[in-house]
This record gives sequence, C-alpha cells and structure tokens, in this order.
Amino acid sequence: MILKNFAVFEGIDGAGTSTQIQLLKKREECKNFCFTAEPTSFPTGKFLRQMLKGDITLNPKTSAFLFAADRAEHVWGKSSENGGFMGIEEACLNNKITVSDRYIFSSLAYQKVTCGKELPAALNSFFPLPELLFFFEIEPEDSLKRISGRETIEIYEKSDFLKETEKAYREVINEYEKSVPQMKIIRINAVQPKDVIAEKIWNELKNLL
Ligand code: TYD
Repeated sequence: MILKNFAVFEGIDGAGTSTQIQLLKKREECKNFCFTAEPTSFPTGKFLRQMLKGDITLNPKTSAFLFAADRAEHVWGKSSENGGFMGIEEACLNNKITVSDRYIFSSLAYQKVTCGKELPAALNSFFPLPELLFFFEIEPEDSLKRISGRETIEIYEKSDFLKETEKAYREVINEYEKSVPQMKIIRINAVQPKDVIAEKIWNELKNLL
C-alpha cells in the first residue's frame, strides 16, 4: 500500500540524506512539513543507537527485529497515546507532508547484509510504502571519505560493510522499481553540489503540495 504525502530519503552512510533534509527544513514552503528520521528518538531508537555505537552487542536478528519495532511506533504511533507524537500514518492521513530520513529500505539493505534477506523482508512487509523515494547514489569510497572526518564512527561505517550494503541497496531499489511502479523512485547522484541536489529534490517534492 502506498501512503500519500509520504517521502523517504535513503542511501548508505555518508550519502548526504541528512544534509539535504536540513536544507529542506530551511525552506519557507516546508514550514508545515513533518520531518522525521530512523532510528527514532523513542527508547527503541535510543537502544539501537547504543548498538550502532558498539556499546551493546546484539545478535543481528535481534537488531532486525528492533529496527522493525522502532519503525512500527514511528509509523503507527497515535498522538492521543503517545505524548502528542503523531506517527507517520496519522500525519500523512491528516494531509501533512512527511519526510523521513531512512525507512524500510535501510533495513532491507543493511539487515540483508547482517542477517540475510528473509527476516528483514518478512518484518518489513507490513509497512506502507512512501509516495516518493529519493535514493542517494554514491560510491562507497566517496561516502567513506565523508564519514572519516566525523567524530564518532558507528559499527556499520566500515569499508567492506558499506560496499556490501551499497550493492544490497541497489538490488532492493531495482526490485521495487520493477514491482511497485506506483512508488516514484528518484535517483540522486549524491556527489553533485549540495544546491544542485537540493533543487532536484524540491522539484519533485513540490508536486506533493
Ligand atoms: P544514520 O542515518 O547514519 O544516523 P546518523 O547520521 O544520526 O548516525 O543511521 C544510523 C545507522 O543505522 C546507519 O548506519 C544505518 C543503520 N540502519 C539500519 O541498519 N537499519 C535500519 O532499518 C535503519 C533505519 C538504519
């Protein structure tokens, strides 16, 4: 099922999705948008961040379940039950354009590498699909150069792992492109200048208004 008003940004670490979301947030036209991200800031997301930092070691299958559990609250959380937090589904059904930094495609790529294709595919088959998917394409070598300047390096931010994840991402996105043509996939060449990428994104996103 496609959820109207929902857009997602995906790509390997260092592809620049977060930078582009920050640029979008500054646009006057986006002041009523709902910007969100995964892992979330809920306790499930905080737990996942500890795992990503290497503070907690989990079986990869456990992580796949946790990413999906975190997503379940992110999508289906109700503002009436959840301290005012509007889940993605509620926001989109209320005509709020909602942009998420990462979604199921992250699990289908990263967790495919850590624990195989089947479990993440099964766990993520329940979630609605976005109307728009921006897929940031970058060579792992280029993304690694960007990440290496950061203060903290997470467990997935390693050369071989990123290469495998990049391949898994491409396969997953190609599969969706064929099987779900109603979901519009926009491929972004992520090594272009920031403002060029920002314009390309806005040209697509504005059609949701
Ligand atoms: P990231 O967007 O890199 O967050 P930040 O920029 O704040 O560090 O996401 C954190 C990591 O989590 C990233 O390496 C991808 C990984 N991840 C998964 O492995 N599976 C998932 O389902 C999600 C949402 C993220």
